[in-house]
Parts: sequence; structure tokens; C-alpha cells
Amino acid sequence: MSAALPALHSGLAVERLGKIFPRRDASVIAVENVSFQVEPRQVCILLGPSGCGKSTVLRMIAGLEHPSSGHINLNGNPVTGPARERGMVFQGYTSFPWLTVRENVAYGLRINGDVNAMREGTVDYYLDRVGLSRFADAWPHQLSGGMRQRVALARALATSPQLLLMDEPFGALDAETRWQMQELLLSVIRKERMTVVMVTHDVEEALLLGDQIVFLSSHPGRVRTILHPPFKADDAICTREALRSHPDYAGMERDILAMMHEEGSRH
Ligand SMILES: Nc1ncnc2c1ncn2[C@@H]1O[C@H](COP(=O)(O)OP(=O)(O)OP(=O)(O)O)[C@@H](O)[C@H]1O
Ligand SMILES: [Mg+2]
Repeated sequence: MSAALPALHSGLAVERLGKIFPRRDASVIAVENVSFQVEPRQVCILLGPSGCGKSTVLRMIAGLEHPSSGHINLNGNPVTGPARERGMVFQGYTSFPWLTVRENVAYGLRINGDVNAMREGTVDYYLDRVGLSRFADAWPHQLSGGMRQRVALARALATSPQLLLMDEPFGALDAETRWQMQELLLSVIRKERMTVVMVTHDVEEALLLGDQIVFLSSHPGRVRTILHPPFKADDAICTREALRSHPDYAGMERDILAMMHEEGSRH
């Protein structure tokens, strides 16, 4: 065994990442030359207009797509395929229709080889945290879209991944439930020492949760800018009102919305 890796190698490093999707007529350059780093226990938000390659970048970090160019390293090790250290919440409502809510949440633990007894406690704990204890034995088709998203969140959290990858995990939730899930996520990250990369369209969510926001431009997706919102470090911010009344909030929100608008109108 080599000595402990230098500090530079801990966390996630995405280096000059590119992805070309071959098509019969013309290949699509989905993302090009994307680089960023995420320190351990930080939350990195991928933001940008629809089609700019956010899901593609996330899927490459998950090891579900192979980069056409560039490298991804997690804690100094190259990412070459999916692994249990990386948990994923996919875009859309991804639950297995043939499994109950409880079985869906237990699924990730089962494929990680966890023993039954441990699974029971962990599953019930996360079902409770996402507010679905009463629906543990329901089938996904009996749930709303937002409830299914919460199942997917509980399933990913229950496996305690080193790196949690989430693709618009709160998109179908109403404002109040979304806020509760954001709080849950923050408390779990603090407790479990997880690092997170998350895609969202929601600027407020990006500013609330992100230590870092990687803003991608469209067609092809390139890093337009990287922002470091100061709000998470401020313990006083525990309500949406407190976030919105922070002196730096309005300016950052305005800058991001302006970039969104500019990139969106480049189609
Ligand atoms: N499997 C695929 N085959 C071909 N092209 C793809 C594939 N997946 C994505 N693309 C293309 O790559 C580009 C980026 O897609 P991606 O899904 O990463 O965007 P996104 O930023 O996640 O968009 P949205 O915000 O709408 O979810 C798009 O032009 C898309 O058509
Ligand atoms: Mg997407």
C-alpha cells in the first residue's frame, strides 16, 4: 500500500471531460472540455439550460457513460464504471414498479450485500425521514410523482454513498415538501460526510444547497462560470425567508437568471 494520498487527490476531480454522441447524420457534441473539482463533503450544483449536458456529465461521473475525452477521479481513483461508492438519483421518477416502497428503498442495500437486520432499521429510518412510513407497503403506481421521487431519494441515501449524484431529485415536489427534502439532504450530508453533485433547474435551490455552482453553457456544454455561494456557511439561514433576505442573495440570483436567459436564447 502506498502512503496516504495527498490532499489534492481527495474529493472529485473532473478534468477536460468531453462527450460526443454518434448519430447517423451528424454526431452531437454534448459536452466539451468540462473541468471542475469538488472537495469532500461539499455540494456541487450543475446548472444550465435544458440540453446543455448536465445529465450527461452526471452519468459519466456515475460511470454509466464513457467519456469521449478527459478523466474523472474520485479520491484519487479513476472512475471506469458504476460502483457502490457512488449513489445515483435519476431524472424522472425511478422506482421499480414490481417492488413495494419498502423493497424499493432496500434495493440499493441489497445489491451492496448488506444483511437483512441492518437493512430493516436503515430502510425504516429513511422512509420516516422522507415522510413515507405510512406507504411502506404501497406500490409505486399508488404514489404521486413527488412521493416516487422521495422513494428514489431514500433509496440513494440509505446506501450512504461517498458520492451522491442527483439529477433534479426534487423537480416534482411542491414548494413545502421540496424545502423539507432540502433540509433532510443538508442534515444527512453533515451527518454522513457525503459529497454531492446535483443537477437542478431551480436557482433558489442551487443557491441554498450549493457550495459551488458549475454553470454550463449550451450546445456544446462548456463551463461558463463557477460560483461559490456563501449562504450554506451561514448557520442563520434555516428558512427560505432568511436565505432571500441575505444581502448577497438578490445579486447572485439576478446574475444566474441573466445567464440562464442568455444561454436559453442561444438555441
Ligand atoms: N444517449 C444519447 N444519444 C444521443 N444524444 C444524446 C444522448 N443523451 C443525451 N444526448 C444529447 O446530449 C445533449 C445533452 O443532453 P443532456 O440530457 O445531458 O442535457 P440536460 O442538460 O440534462 O438537459 P435537461 O435539463 O433537459 O435534462 C442533448 O443535445 C441530447 O440530445
Ligand atoms: Mg437532464
